[in-house]
Amino acid sequence: MAAPHVIGPELRPLASSAGPTYPPPAHPDRETVRFRPFLDPTMSDPWQRDQFPILRNKTYLNSCSLGALSLRSEEYLREFLDRWHSMGASAWYRHWLGRIEDLRGRVAAVHGAPAAQMALLPSTSVALSAVAEAVPTSGRNRVICTELDFPTLVYQWRTRPEIELVVLPSPDGVRIDLEQFADAVDERTLFVATSHVYFATGYIQDLEGLARIARDAGAYCLIDGYQGAGQVELDLPATGVDFYTSGPLKWLLGGPGLAYLYVRDEWVRSLEPRLVSWFAHRRQFDFDVSTFEPHEDARRFEMGTPALPTVHTALGGQEIVDQLGIPAIVKRNRELTDRLVERVLEEGMTLSIAPSDHRSSIVMIQHPDPSAAVRSLADRDIIVDYRPGHVRVSPHFYNTEDDVERFVAGMTG
Ligand SMILES: Cc1ncc(COP(=O)(O)O)c(C=O)c1O
Repeated sequence: MAAPHVIGPELRPLASSAGPTYPPPAHPDRETVRFRPFLDPTMSDPWQRDQFPILRNKTYLNSCSLGALSLRSEEYLREFLDRWHSMGASAWYRHWLGRIEDLRGRVAAVHGAPAAQMALLPSTSVALSAVAEAVPTSGRNRVICTELDFPTLVYQWRTRPEIELVVLPSPDGVRIDLEQFADAVDERTLFVATSHVYFATGYIQDLEGLARIARDAGAYCLIDGYQGAGQVELDLPATGVDFYTSGPLKWLLGGPGLAYLYVRDEWVRSLEPRLVSWFAHRRQFDFDVSTFEPHEDARRFEMGTPALPTVHTALGGQEIVDQLGIPAIVKRNRELTDRLVERVLEEGMTLSIAPSDHRSSIVMIQHPDPSAAVRSLADRDIIVDYRPGHVRVSPHFYNTEDDVERFVAGMTG
């Protein structure tokens, strides 16, 4: 190969010989930008409502669709745009590759995992396809999903004629029992592929139980954790799940455009993805087309240039979540959810709700015309959502008991 064309000090590739080392070395000139402290040190507002401008004008109870945008995220986004203006492409090596690693480190921590087990992808759907294409089938072709899973998970298998898809029915429209998974899994099973928290019932599944059932049958356990990360404490390596997808859009307050993929340690190096990209190559900046050598960490699953605006907004949301801490968020969300449940029951509404030990911050209220109810609430600046037959309400730490009261008044008034 001809000697590389030298394009100036700013554009010298950062990671040309990063090889198997992780994390990649930081650019020597990279400065760390210090933002003004963003959490009120007096803690007069312990849940940082001032960080979220939408709360000034709306009763926002729809975090399971889209987490609120923080000033912190906006500040990061502005930094990104300023550097785009002032530095152009040289910001990649000086700053933006580093921002990607900043995000990866924080995201890994919130999943209880090392950064080397975390990949950044464009969407959950892409992450699921990357996993589906990476595992050797060893003659297995059965996949177990449920009727409560988010459709994008089930669709992965519907389009593959070689797959025998089993969709488990719910006995009550809220949950699927572990025994149902155990009964459906056999020596032909390739994946148990289901949700951590069901998007339209809020039921939290038992990850250890699901992973055990899959492992005992020699199958992989693939979890769609989009509704888990940020509202449930995670220690993924301890659960034994093989793959877990999540993203910044909802409870992690980072906006659309990215997804996260956790890969169990055992599979990080041994699986060879078939959907690949130059970001998955261990010598990305050698631009060598003669071989494909995957990273020795979860970056081998990555699928090209990540959405940098979202890397920045996700960092802002993630910093707030990290500062507050998931245990405190779980506790606060539980207080709000308990109050909401109590109040709507007092008002004679009917819930489709998980038992207390499987309950998350997604509350489903039965309604004959939920879309009309959601529109009417929006007219009163109360933002919730609907799914078939239900109004869906999802309080997060920045909500208050007053928000719950306003919602109840809106539903009954
Ligand atoms: C459980 C769950 N999985 C996946 C998604 C979205 O998947 P994607 O990132 O492919 O749009 C959502 C919601 O947007 C969801 O609630």
